[in-house]
Amino acid sequence: MKIALIGFGNVGQGLAQILCDKAETLRAADGFVPQIVAVATRRQGTLYHPAGLNLELLLAAAAQGQLSAYPDMEGLHRNWAVPEIIRQSNADVVIEVTPTNLQTAHPALDYCYLALEHGKHLVLANKGPVVLAYHELMRRARQAGKQVRFEATVMAGTPALRTGAQNLAGCYIFAMRGILNGTTNYMLSQMENGASYADALAQAQNLGYAETDPRGDVEGWDTAAKAIILAQSLFNANLTIDQLEVEGITGLTTADMLDAHRAGERWKLIAQITPTGGSVRPVRVPLADPLAHVSGAINAITYTTDLLGEVTLVGPGAGQLTTGFGLLSDLLDIHRTASS
Ligand code: HSE
Repeated sequence: MKIALIGFGNVGQGLAQILCDKAETLRAADGFVPQIVAVATRRQGTLYHPAGLNLELLLAAAAQGQLSAYPDMEGLHRNWAVPEIIRQSNADVVIEVTPTNLQTAHPALDYCYLALEHGKHLVLANKGPVVLAYHELMRRARQAGKQVRFEATVMAGTPALRTGAQNLAGCYIFAMRGILNGTTNYMLSQMENGASYADALAQAQNLGYAETDPRGDVEGWDTAAKAIILAQSLFNANLTIDQLEVEGITGLTTADMLDAHRAGERWKLIAQITPTGGSVRPVRVPLADPLAHVSGAINAITYTTDLLGEVTLVGPGAGQLTTGFGLLSDLLDIHRTASS
């Protein structure tokens, strides 16, 4: 499988690291031999080699903050523009991992459409295109006979979408409720331990949990985006983000954490999703509620179903390798199911 990575920040590098570390295991266990043939960045240019880039050299160049540090070799193209990579490279799969933009999703959405138009499968960690154009992406994917997958957009590599779509297939899901943002859950846990809001946010940023613009996390929009992705993909809903009631954690202080603690409660940023709507808001959750014990960058989602009652999935919600794994799980699905 030949892969073009559009974006090579925290998450893209996480995937490259996993593919580098697990090359032998993936080949032996799944017959999966991925090659990253192209990498495109906004500030450091692009690289394309039809026979695949050397992952160790690529990661070393990224660690220096300079793709130009990747050594010259025969057949290497530098600075092809992204549309040129999508149109003219030999990639089978385009992975969109540029920062999320929930207002327009562009230029990422244009790249997604271009990828499908040129017969590529599409994998995203970028939430913008899925939030704003899920139904259109699916329509174009069907038309092209290609797959669009986005497990990494919700709860990083924890299989929230796959669980709902595949493992719970045959159940009717009435509703979903959960903690869907790693940054804010980490911050609330740190604030319970006495950290200030500003310090907790700085730590979440240092650990690579926060969005490029962390307002998306703390104001609740990242959680809302994930709620919309869940609603669209599992309920086939036609919801837009402005139809949700959204409130973040910006009004919460360390003193609020202590107040809740005295009452045997914890503040959590909770998303509620039904086929017709939803909300994102901070809630004082009693300790008897399992969600009260989901701490740090861990996330959780409870599916309320007809046949199983409540099913809860708990796992990492943010982070480099955890999100990189979300991408890998989609690539493996495509490898196992796609005919080309
Ligand atoms: N900023 C996001 C979070 C990253 O903290 O959950 C994962 O989507």
